[in-house]
Amino acid sequence: MYFQLEIPPRVIVGADARKCVGTEAMNLGWSRALLVSDPFHEKAGRTSEITVLLSKAGLEASTYCGVTGEPDTEMVICGLKQFKADKCDGIIALGGGSVIDTAKTISVLAVNDGTVQQFMGTDTVTKPGVGVIVLPTTSGTGSEATRVVVIGDSQSNLKMSGRSKAYVPDVAILDYKLTTSMPKSMTAASGIDALTHAIEAYVSKRANDFTDLLALSAVRLIRNSIKSAWHDGSDEEARKNMLMGSFQAGIAFSNSSVGLVHSMSEPLGACFHVPHGLSNAMLLPAVTKFSITGAPSRYAEIARCMELANSSMTDEECCKMLIDGLLQLNRELEISSPKSFGIENVCYEEHIEKMAKDAATASSTNNNPVIPTFDQIKEIYCETYDAL
Ligand SMILES: [Fe+2]
Repeated sequence: MYFQLEIPPRVIVGADARKCVGTEAMNLGWSRALLVSDPFHEKAGRTSEITVLLSKAGLEASTYCGVTGEPDTEMVICGLKQFKADKCDGIIALGGGSVIDTAKTISVLAVNDGTVQQFMGTDTVTKPGVGVIVLPTTSGTGSEATRVVVIGDSQSNLKMSGRSKAYVPDVAILDYKLTTSMPKSMTAASGIDALTHAIEAYVSKRANDFTDLLALSAVRLIRNSIKSAWHDGSDEEARKNMLMGSFQAGIAFSNSSVGLVHSMSEPLGACFHVPHGLSNAMLLPAVTKFSITGAPSRYAEIARCMELANSSMTDEECCKMLIDGLLQLNRELEISSPKSFGIENVCYEEHIEKMAKDAATASSTNNNPVIPTFDQIKEIYCETYDAL
């Protein structure tokens, strides 16, 4: 057995690290960058701050702020058109996972002829894309660290994921000051997404020594800071820990895998427009309870790392504390259940068959500690409906 690692070749971390963006772009030999962002950051003046920094370094920039929600093929194609029309030679992403995934996909299509759909799936990209510098403004998806993109098909409404080395960014600039404006709901949902990445990477059948190290470190960083950042968004120490935790969890799952929470979360998001982090948070306690028998000592270690249990407790006791702790965390961070999110019971039940079918065939399901039957997936969806 062997494992391989793919991580961004250059990572810059710290308060005000965004100020390095011009130098980094120059070092990559660019002359004109496409800055990909969203209307929120445009309105807040953050995109203009980046273009000024680029201009000071002698670079021109063209700004594309068309990422208006979870990314889809239309957003990618619009950005690609602008990249080509403005003769850009590099891409900067300023935003959350949606912006970063859009930017990484534009980069691949700028070099490889074909449709977005052709470059989804595993190792489908033949040539590296144009250079990408990412500046995450949320702490959750870990896209700044990963070889993964998730893009919706604008026509079929299906979510597609791509996993290729070409999606690993060239430079990740982790400036926690960019994350302090995240609203409470996003802090909670994206923070639990990051925690889910760490847990699923650690219990994955593809976990290795390197990903274990980062997954447990991420759990330690996230365990207290997620609550502090949620209660007080201006808590710089908490924001710093969350951004580093999210990055480490991103590297961990990108080099092992996620599991059943993510497999079941995508259909829930696709059917009912539940944002990715929130649907993961809804499912995490029930999927953890289901999966524990496949890796009890690993789940127990997560409980100890989260300080939900102590070293004198048995694995079984630790696992029980973990399930209770995850439910309690959801309650404290005011995470909705599918019911309180506004999904009608009848409508939810009508979709369970289709959601379970999609979750059963998702590639991550096979990496879960316990591989569920079709009926077990349906039971977990039922249990989750009004769980909190
Ligand atoms: Fe995720």
